[in-house]
Amino acid sequence: MQQGANAPLRTLGVPRERAPRERRVAATPETVRQFGRLGFQVLVEREAGLAAGFPDDAYEAAGAELVDDAAELYRRADVIVKVQRPLPDEVESLREGQILIGFLQPLVAPELVAALAERGVIAISMDTIPRITRAQPMDALSSMSTVAGYKAVLLAANELPKFFPLMMTAAGTIRPARVLVLGAGVAGLQAIATARRLGAIVEAFDTRPVVKEQVESLGAKFLELGVTTEEVGGYAKELAEEHLRREQELIHTHCLEADVVITTALVPGRRAPLLIREETVRQMRPRSVIVDLAAEMGGNCELTVPGETIVRYGVTIMGPLNLPSEMAYTASQMYARNVAALIQHLAPKGEFVWNFEDEITRGVVLTKDKRILHEPTLERLKEEVR
Ligand code: NAI
Repeated sequence: MQQGANAPLRTLGVPRERAPRERRVAATPETVRQFGRLGFQVLVEREAGLAAGFPDDAYEAAGAELVDDAAELYRRADVIVKVQRPLPDEVESLREGQILIGFLQPLVAPELVAALAERGVIAISMDTIPRITRAQPMDALSSMSTVAGYKAVLLAANELPKFFPLMMTAAGTIRPARVLVLGAGVAGLQAIATARRLGAIVEAFDTRPVVKEQVESLGAKFLELGVTTEEVGGYAKELAEEHLRREQELIHTHCLEADVVITTALVPGRRAPLLIREETVRQMRPRSVIVDLAAEMGGNCELTVPGETIVRYGVTIMGPLNLPSEMAYTASQMYARNVAALIQHLAPKGEFVWNFEDEITRGVVLTKDKRILHEPTLERLKEEVR
């Protein structure tokens, strides 16, 4: 149903992120210029970009108005662009008809979506963009996975008491480190590429056999474990219990050979699959390193403590949360471009057009006119009631 253009929503606000340890910002001076060309007036909360490396004067030079008080920003802006889900007091600041754009994670926080619907907010989620070619410039999940995959390897290299590359030195030959990457989606492929650039020998596994060619083109070996999943919209479907057990057994032997294991396996909206059991860690080489990028979704390793680095059986297990925030400059640059591309798509002439025949619009608009429109969120809320 084509609902046509609403009244112009012309003021765009960029608040400072308030979630703990979040350094990213949803707009950069570059995208502020872009919004200006689309006809938006842009309000930026003072110091909103500072932690990411974008100073206030750069925003001012790009045409933004700096605002001291977040309450004033929420009052004056028609469109709020954010990185993280709004905190309870931020939800309180949102009003009917106002547009909120951010990583709303509707399947992780369906109650938030319900609260936004109740307030009449038009909630737009950056993490429900369909994985189709024309949506690639808006694909914030891919951008952030790229950053996380890269950074995970640097964390591992920093922690590992060995060189990554082969070294021929006067003190003899030093053998290269062996890296195992589990899950070869966007983050996994970036981890493979980064580990290869550092000179490691890399092996990788994914349950989607289509990634074999991509893994090999990066110079890594694809493990044929004979365990595959169906794909749903490019994503892996959850494995049956017995398949998962078989996968754990097969992965076990490869973990014992590895100096570094980077795990990135995720199934959308579900707990991350458990791929490395305690028994495997117990038998791994001492001082080897596991970086579990699935920590936020429960972890791919049984011993991972989300947000912490621990040592068990001599193995360092890192469960970093929000790695993109630790590379806040590049992560903000990429995320802000994704947000700008989405706004350009939804409001090509500076006015939002709600065309629900468009797959991208249907994918991202979670709530409108006090209703939840996003089917998967409605289903998740029903599951919770049951
Ligand atoms: P993701 O973050 O949801 O999952 C990461 C990886 O874990 C996936 O490759 C998945 O197959 C794998 N995995 C799940 N369960 C596993 C298990 N038990 N064992 C081993 N691996 C397991 O996925 P991501 O990175 O967000 O993207 C998935 C795919 O979607 C991409 O690789 C790509 O093919 C496709 N995609 C398409 C885009 C487009 O056409 N616009 C954009 C981005 C991604």
